[in-house]
Amino acid sequence: MNIDIIKKYNTPGPRYTSYPPATFFHTGFGQEQYVKHIEKSNGDEPKNISFYVHIPFCSKLCFFCGCNTSILRGDDVVKRYVNAVIKEIETVSSMLDKSRKVSQIHWGGGTPNAISLNYIEQIMNALKKDFSFTGNAEIAMECNPAYLEFKDIDRLKEIGFNRLSLGIQDFDPKILKSVNRDASKYPVKDLVAHMKKIGFHGVNLDLIYGLPYQTVDSFKESVHQAIDISPDRLVTFSYAHVPWVKTAQKKLETYGLPGPEDKLAMFDAGLEMLTKAGYLSIGMDHYAKPDDELCIALNNRKLHRNFQGYATRETTGQVYGFGTSSISQLNGAYIQNTKVLNEYMERVEKTGFAVERGYELSQEDIIRRDVITEIMCNGYLSFKEIADRYAISEQKVVEVVDFKEAELVDFIEDDLIEYKEGILKLKEQGFFVVRNIAMVFDPLLEIKDAQYSKTV
Ligand SMILES: C[S@@+](CC[C@H](N)C(=O)[O-])C[C@H]1O[C@@H](n2cnc3c(N)ncnc32)[C@H](O)[C@@H]1O
Ligand code: SF4
Repeated sequence: MNIDIIKKYNTPGPRYTSYPPATFFHTGFGQEQYVKHIEKSNGDEPKNISFYVHIPFCSKLCFFCGCNTSILRGDDVVKRYVNAVIKEIETVSSMLDKSRKVSQIHWGGGTPNAISLNYIEQIMNALKKDFSFTGNAEIAMECNPAYLEFKDIDRLKEIGFNRLSLGIQDFDPKILKSVNRDASKYPVKDLVAHMKKIGFHGVNLDLIYGLPYQTVDSFKESVHQAIDISPDRLVTFSYAHVPWVKTAQKKLETYGLPGPEDKLAMFDAGLEMLTKAGYLSIGMDHYAKPDDELCIALNNRKLHRNFQGYATRETTGQVYGFGTSSISQLNGAYIQNTKVLNEYMERVEKTGFAVERGYELSQEDIIRRDVITEIMCNGYLSFKEIADRYAISEQKVVEVVDFKEAELVDFIEDDLIEYKEGILKLKEQGFFVVRNIAMVFDPLLEIKDAQYSKTV
């Protein structure tokens, strides 16, 4: 891994978890447009349904957190929230074609396992009530291991989950203390072994680099422990410091944060150790074992991605999001609910919806999204394949993405990509600057330093 290359391309840029990025969502798009797009989505591709459920509660707030969450208050609020989510599910489900199958349900937060599993089951029952599932449906939850009991893992399996992700962040108690986070209640190795024993697969661990007190050596130690636990997947997130949005992050500045050089060295050390241990890197910060379905999909150029992370093209459906701040990703539009908990509950109680903003994609946006997704996920782009998909000429695709071959020169000279006759292939190192490569094909790009975190 050439660190100079990473430094050269380490500029602010979108993460492309959606195209166009969420910075384009606007409040001119509201409930009426969402209803229209739900109806339209029944006739669109992909036919499969993905559901996302957001649980915005945590027992305690980690100072680094960039997610939409709040401290758990009394059970009354949780109960009211759960009822609102169920009402929103019923409202949207009543408009969906019941012959469509559910291929993915993702629970994120906040900390879904911070609330009673009885509530989780009630919401899950509402999701299951009217729909059947594909055979390989992926039902996943993000969990904080500080509050996870072995019996909870058994119960989650009974409720229907088949994948779990554990937020580890770091194994060092001093580092966790500085960010106001409790360590796992039980040895993570035992939790993961139990998950695998009772049939969970695609088990994932999240680590973060760039936190106070972290050094290259301390991060190596965390990666070492993670490898010893042997999860199927692992993510090493670069800590995104955005104190102008998340004011609690300012507290971390008092301890001092590792600089960009240190962060790069941590990233590099993680990459080297994980690769040596047999993991393959997927995109920039995700890793999986070679027999994991994400690696198989990558090899077959069938990897896909949404706000919830990577998935195979088979399991990716149009996403209907429930809960405060959740984002729906339909073929023709993105829709985001209000981020304010009370407002979410009040509006859903009254109308069944709580849309705050959205974005309607033009046909050109849809083509650009496809181009960006192919590059971001599969490291491959063929103008001809895209043109055939939309029954348009290759020249039209070139125009839509405003492609100028000259903008690829640096990437070619730095041995990051190959480009010949309308076919772009990322080389292994190209994946580490994949956001920069995707930016070449994004005519809507507006680089706003204050809005986007750096690409590494
Ligand atoms: C919703 S949390 C996961 C579940 C659970 N709340 C937990 O913390 O264990 C999603 C993940 O986002 C990552 N994350 C949160 N804030 C971040 C930030 N500011 N920069 C980078 N990654 C962040 C963490 O790795 C975390 O595990
Ligand atoms: S990182 Fe997870 S547990 Fe910590 S505050 Fe954020 S959502 Fe909650």
